[in-house]
Amino acid sequence: PTISATARCKSSTLHIHALLLPTMSHCVSCPGPRRTIPVIGDSKVYVGRGLLSQIPSELTPACGIKASRFIIVSDGNVWPLYGKRLLDAFKALPGFIVHDVASSAAAAAINSSQPFDFKCQCCVDEPVDCSDTEKLVLTFQVPAGENSKCRDVKAAIEDFMLAHRCNRDTCMIAMGGGVVGDLVGYVAATFMRGVPYVQVPTSSTAMIDSSVGGKTAINVPAGKNLIGAFHQPVSVYADMDLLVSLGKRELVEGIAEAIKMGCIRLPKLYELLEAEPEKIMNLDPVLIEEMMYDAIRGKAEVVAEDEKEAGLRSTLNWGHTIGHAIEALMSPAYMHGECVAIGCIAEADVAMRMGREDMMLDAAKVERISKCFESYGLPIHMPRGLAIETLMKKMALDKKNRGSTIRCTIVTDLGVSLAQPQPVSKELMAEAMERSMEQGNKRPDWTPLEGNHKFHVKGGQMAK
Ligand code: GLY
Repeated sequence: PTISATARCKSSTLHIHALLLPTMSHCVSCPGPRRTIPVIGDSKVYVGRGLLSQIPSELTPACGIKASRFIIVSDGNVWPLYGKRLLDAFKALPGFIVHDVASSAAAAAINSSQPFDFKCQCCVDEPVDCSDTEKLVLTFQVPAGENSKCRDVKAAIEDFMLAHRCNRDTCMIAMGGGVVGDLVGYVAATFMRGVPYVQVPTSSTAMIDSSVGGKTAINVPAGKNLIGAFHQPVSVYADMDLLVSLGKRELVEGIAEAIKMGCIRLPKLYELLEAEPEKIMNLDPVLIEEMMYDAIRGKAEVVAEDEKEAGLRSTLNWGHTIGHAIEALMSPAYMHGECVAIGCIAEADVAMRMGREDMMLDAAKVERISKCFESYGLPIHMPRGLAIETLMKKMALDKKNRGSTIRCTIVTDLGVSLAQPQPVSKELMAEAMERSMEQGNKRPDWTPLEGNHKFHVKGGQMAK
């Protein structure tokens, strides 16, 4: 995809910058410069600062969104942080009527001894009428956490939209982490056979991975993400200003996916992540945006080539074959990105021992990757006490498998991987996990970084 770079001022003057702006600083009186990454079709990701307040003015036919009703869906952690800022930007524009059920329901819950019941949101109020020349903005809040990615909550959002006479002329806005993004994307994919939606990711994992590429899904009793659709968001706003509300642990969770992306196809991104862990973890304004931009661009390129995951896209699951098995047993004590970090090192070990001629990933490079994950406080060895047999059973459920054959992404060098996941013998997988466990047993217990536990809700963010 081609890349464009723009900077916007409140005066609505549009400045075009020839360079990609990494050295430009963010001015508080003016939304920051932003860059655009095309994904597939008209879907794009904007990366920059101050983006949240720009969104309402861009929900127009000229920007690919023909709608007169908008529904913002968020969760109980994110809405109190950013809901007002987004609504203020809507209110600043003429012609929008805002019907803020999310804030009023949440405020009522705070003042009440009753727990907040999200289902009541669809029956507490009468539909709001507006004229044909006005646009209606509705809000809806779901409980934070993986449990909201389910049939009941999907139905509650749909019933709320139907009660408020939403039709095809509706655009959904998902503001939150992976749970909200996946859920809202799936509602948008099926509501009236498909309506447009916009992603406003607020977690690092959602920015780097889950909001980009149009995978939408809910969980069902048989497993995570088993019911869903490919439905590309019209736009994704990756606003660096929103990262400040994350604890270190939550920030680093998404960085694990960026290290993965660097290792499989972007050597320069890998080198940046390896060289600057302190600055990146401290949200250095230039480096965090460079890292985010490159990781998203890498994902967008893969999605543009293989939207429906015929081959290349499944290589994004490096570290996830083993990582998912660990996550299934260790969540919520270990977060998704932490399990992926362990999985990447174990799968690098698998690749090294496959005896391929094209293999440039030697023990020294695996050591470098291990140190890179560790420099972000991520674990690199199996948690103590897991049984290999149980892990193997979990792995048998991996979506990349064909029949009973386990398939893994094979990284052949730093920043290079094979274009398709490869079959790997069960013995090799089991041995790699055993080695990981043995090495872990020789070291002190891994201790997680300080987290923001408000955001760390049972269930984690199982990748798709
Ligand atoms: N999370 C991997 C993908 O979107 O394909």
